[in-house]
Amino acid sequence: MTQTARPLRILFLTHAFNSLAQRLYVELSGRGHEVSIEFDINDAVTIEAVALFRPDLIIAPFLKRAIPAEIWQEHVCLVVHPGIVGDRGPSALDWAIMNGEAEWGVTVLQANAAMDGGDIWAARGFPMRAARKSSLYRNEVTEAAAAAVLEAVEKFGRSDFRPAPLDYADPAVRGRERPLMTQAQRRIDWARDDTATVLRKIRAADSFPGVADCIAGVACWLFNAHAESVLRGAYPDAPPGAVIAQRQGALCRATTDGAVWITHARRKSDPPGFKLPAARAIPEAAGAPESALPALPWRDANTWQDIAYEEEAGVGYLHFDFYNGAMSTADCLRLRDAFIEAARRDVKVIALMGGPDFWSNGIHLNTIEAADSPADESWANIEAMDDLCRAILACGDRYIIAAMRGNAGAGGVFLALTADRVLAREGVVLNPHYKGMGNLYGSEYWTYLLPRRVGEAQALAITQNRLPLGARQAAAQGLIDACFGADAPDFTAQVKALAADLAARPDDLARLLEAKRADRACDEAVKPLAAYRAEELERMRLNFYGFDPSYHVARYHFVHRLPHAWTPLHLARHRRNMWQRQAVLKTRDAVSAQGRN
Ligand code: COA
Repeated sequence: MTQTARPLRILFLTHAFNSLAQRLYVELSGRGHEVSIEFDINDAVTIEAVALFRPDLIIAPFLKRAIPAEIWQEHVCLVVHPGIVGDRGPSALDWAIMNGEAEWGVTVLQANAAMDGGDIWAARGFPMRAARKSSLYRNEVTEAAAAAVLEAVEKFGRSDFRPAPLDYADPAVRGRERPLMTQAQRRIDWARDDTATVLRKIRAADSFPGVADCIAGVACWLFNAHAESVLRGAYPDAPPGAVIAQRQGALCRATTDGAVWITHARRKSDPPGFKLPAARAIPEAAGAPESALPALPWRDANTWQDIAYEEEAGVGYLHFDFYNGAMSTADCLRLRDAFIEAARRDVKVIALMGGPDFWSNGIHLNTIEAADSPADESWANIEAMDDLCRAILACGDRYIIAAMRGNAGAGGVFLALTADRVLAREGVVLNPHYKGMGNLYGSEYWTYLLPRRVGEAQALAITQNRLPLGARQAAAQGLIDACFGADAPDFTAQVKALAADLAARPDDLARLLEAKRADRACDEAVKPLAAYRAEELERMRLNFYGFDPSYHVARYHFVHRLPHAWTPLHLARHRRNMWQRQAVLKTRDAVSAQGRN
């Protein structure tokens, strides 16, 4: 990737510091640019941010509103649009999925009076994949956007570059303006739509806004659908739309030609509910027969599984694809049991694969929020997560690889650090800190796992700074062992080659396992794992049950996706300086006043 000659002051103007904004932050700050962030709250706040930071360049990675004219008339503002050149409108990816586009892209354009109609600085294309909108966004769109933004930033540094005006007469411009997709356009006609159509409609609306529908007479929005090609045979008379089975919180509904699993739903109530496992959101449907799987389910493409196992060339691959990377108490315990089962099998290497979009984002804040006692459920969830971590750490006779194909946050990062070798796809972004969730202290043995990899000082910086780390940065700091792979298939292929190679060298493997057992015994003698856990949980007890409600308040805001009222100071460097400047001026005034008295 290219590099500009001079470091720039770049202001991100963004609706949220989402995964794409975080990835761009990692790429640009890693190249020496000074990046500060302002959430798009209102025009006056934006104008103030620009005045405070005096950026060379403004980038809008994820914006839902137009940039004020006062800003784009005075500054170059580059907008990242998740669509091909000429595509305009707020439902770019939704239409691309619904219309079955074979190829799609990302365009970096300059803000002007016409929304998404400005001059074009860079664009990248990619082949479409049958996947959720959010999965395309976190993978193909993010990779394309990172490449296009870096190209645009490089062009910004060149005095001879002129962006190309959008010209619909140009036959290369294939996109066009499309309106906001309505719920009427997303509606599922259960009597007519086949499985492929139902999947396409739900995928185009996931993770937002979901497809408005009814389950068991309850109005709700549907999320995360997977085809089921076996179960329907047992219910030949079930009318399309009927719930025919349930599994781990997901509901299976008949279609005209098969069935689909719907894993999550949001109840349309007053006030509206938040996203939950479907059977939990709609208990009216929870009487459906249970379609249970064994503790270690063998991978089967004919059905939906959030935990799945496979073996290849002497390696066990344990996949866990929890929606949004959130792991409830039951999820953690099922994964622990699956891991223990896998470790009993005749494989010496186990690769923990996470899911294709997320590795893990720690305990499940939504199921916690929905519990009768969120404090008790928080406690149960963190204990279950710790039990899972403990099972991996205590496994002395298998070599464990953590293979992070997708991003990880909070306890999810530390779950990965329980492995003997921690690998990540190059584009992965890690958030190895808890503090953003209402000063949560965190557990998952992080007080043992983090300093032993990066040292005490760096551990303190990582947990306090609350900034995302790119995989390359994480590898350079020793937080993870290595990163590679241009995309998830490339990364997975390299992980498989590496794991198979290790499994094929029994003597080397025996030495590695011997060394691992010795290290663990030595660490245990210095301080037992139980002591780390007890100390962490003591702090967590205060978070959950103590006088300070910050964690409960932060979780409520997070789960209900409430808009930000301000930009936190660890992101808004320009405001941090402002407070520092004001503090310095105040001290100076106080000192000179003392001098006068
Ligand atoms: N529990 C429940 N849902 C979670 C979750 C968690 N631990 N972590 C992420 N999610 C959900 C979000 O609500 C969001 O849902 P939606 O898009 O379906 O509405 C989705 O996952 C993506 O999260 P988002 O915050 O938009 O992703 P991001 O890539 O921008 O940010 C994180 C990643 C990890 C920084 C952010 O998700 C986060 O702070 N998560 C909470 C981590 C945490 O505190 N865990 C508990 C302590 S272990």
